[in-house]
Amino acid sequence: MITVRAPATSANLGSGFDVFGVALSRPADVLRVERAERTSIEVTGIGSEYIPEDPAQNTVGAVAKALDAPAHIRIDKGVRPSSGLGSSAASAAGAALALSALYGRDLSRRDLVPVAAEGEAVVSGEPHADNVTPALMGGFTVAADRMTSVDADVPLVACLPEIAVSTRDARRVVPDEASMDDLVHTVGRAATLAVGMCRSDPDLVGAGMEEQVVTPRRAKLITGYNRVREVALDAGATGVTVSGAGPTVLAACRRGRRQAVASAMIDAFVDHDVEARAYQTSIGRGAEVY
Ligand code: HSE
Repeated sequence: MITVRAPATSANLGSGFDVFGVALSRPADVLRVERAERTSIEVTGIGSEYIPEDPAQNTVGAVAKALDAPAHIRIDKGVRPSSGLGSSAASAAGAALALSALYGRDLSRRDLVPVAAEGEAVVSGEPHADNVTPALMGGFTVAADRMTSVDADVPLVACLPEIAVSTRDARRVVPDEASMDDLVHTVGRAATLAVGMCRSDPDLVGAGMEEQVVTPRRAKLITGYNRVREVALDAGATGVTVSGAGPTVLAACRRGRRQAVASAMIDAFVDHDVEARAYQTSIGRGAEVY
């Protein structure tokens, strides 16, 4: 049997829509995987009641099929589904790593990215790689023609409100076109963010998160977003954006300010009658075999 810890991830980071991602040091899913004649899946943990155990409908079932690696897979969810924290990607990446090790497939983490992305497509409708890339490779990642990653040390708060936003709904509000002005603005911010990651500089990372095409439209799906953003910035966040498709709100923070930012964000959600929890987290490693 193989046990794998697979991290939550935050995709987009504002200016890197469908491209940027980070692995988070917490929360994470834990998968226990054993060879079997046919694939079967058991799910426990946060939000497990919403996850189908039928291999044809589950992200890890698709991964097992793609690798031709049937197994009994137990998933203990630490990453809530429909949170914007790469819940399905964590399970897909964890299963890809575990099954490839269990069956002795000669595949690198980079090779496993498209396999895990296919698994993700079962739930999101399209095979995005911006969550599975950091879930496998760790650090800050750029999911483009060349998949690249860099380790970075930036304090983060991921504040998860008790609201459900499905990726499918959040993609419906993304416009088909953007102006040249918006394109120039976004490229500038994305480049700033990437330099900030290479330097582990929270100020540059926060400044680079700002984006004006997708984020304002998605923010409307999150009750209290504007106030949560404002109080986080006042408490020591350097930048705030929607994590993935939401509803988690991600804040990059000055060093030593995570606790204050987390409390301020939770209080602002509660002021809007929304319960929330906050993970004080950082940029972490990809999935790991125990
Ligand atoms: N980049 C994707 C989105 C992440 O924001 O829709 C969720 O799969």
